[in-house]
Amino acid sequence: MIDFRSDTVTKPTAAMRAAMSQAEVGDDVYGDDPSVNYLEEMAAEMFGYDNALFTSSGTQANLLALMAHCERGDEYLCGQQAHNYKFEGGGAAVLGSIQPQPLTNQADGSILLSDIEAAIKPDDIHFARTRLLSLENTIGGKIVPQEYLASAQALAFERGLKIHLDGARVANAAVAQNIPMTEITQYFDSVSICLSKGLCAPVGSILLGDERLITKARRWRKVLGGGMRQAGIIASAATLALTEQVERLAEDHDNAAYLAAELATIEGFEVDMSQVQTNMVFAAVSDKIDTKALAVDLKAKGILLSPGKTIRLVTHADISRADITRFISELKGLLSQS
Ligand SMILES: Cc1ncc(COP(=O)(O)O)c(C=O)c1O
Repeated sequence: MIDFRSDTVTKPTAAMRAAMSQAEVGDDVYGDDPSVNYLEEMAAEMFGYDNALFTSSGTQANLLALMAHCERGDEYLCGQQAHNYKFEGGGAAVLGSIQPQPLTNQADGSILLSDIEAAIKPDDIHFARTRLLSLENTIGGKIVPQEYLASAQALAFERGLKIHLDGARVANAAVAQNIPMTEITQYFDSVSICLSKGLCAPVGSILLGDERLITKARRWRKVLGGGMRQAGIIASAATLALTEQVERLAEDHDNAAYLAAELATIEGFEVDMSQVQTNMVFAAVSDKIDTKALAVDLKAKGILLSPGKTIRLVTHADISRADITRFISELKGLLSQS
């Protein structure tokens, strides 16, 4: 199958499978798993944080960050489009008694600093205590500008807020800008990074922070049932995600640009090329095209995509340039028949 639904569908590489088969393991809840310890120490050093925590998913890493920064009755500021507001089941409220305060995302994914300022609640018993600003980069495949990150950090610092990055795809943001990932993460008190998306690990994310934050997050991870015993099996693959897969993302970005340019030539598909910055392509589809039927027909030809008025196509390690060419040709063929 040529699967455009997400970069989460990537399969582990041959090197990852080999590493998993030979991984040294122990009971990670006792702190005894050498492969998990190696990953956490390496990630902390790589990004310049005190400590790191291997988590079962990006959702878990974000939730642990929120629960470690905030107490019951606190709130976090985030974008309306933020994954950790919109797509994580309201976990912070459900499990952490933490109130989200969502704010409008601008076209570039940022949140106006004036909106952030205005949303910070005064110290008054009527209000939740505003504790944290949470940003996402990339967001919807878009890169949040570096200057913005610097100003958001300055504002958070000035107003006594902590600042978290949902950096599920921070590696994409860094590679696309040709800068080290640390140029982005330097602005944040905590960062979650997904290793199981474009970076190809089968499972897992990493949460970065200071000693206090990671100790708290480790406790909450156990409470949430996330104490994984011989997790070195998956941590060994996750390590390779960070050491061997980051630079490769440039291919996905080139493929996304190619896909977007080809798609834009097809009648009924509109692509805003300025929004194609990493590995995601969004196309607004004319009402005349039934994308549900199209998805069924494409599936019969071995191509998967999620239907909708706007379709999102994601490039990744398991999609080649030739796969994209075939998709475009099949798409044109199907549209010419309808
Ligand atoms: C920006 C962002 N953050 C967090 C997540 C959550 O990751 P997971 O699916 O591993 O829970 C995703 C998943 O797609 C995501 O896109």
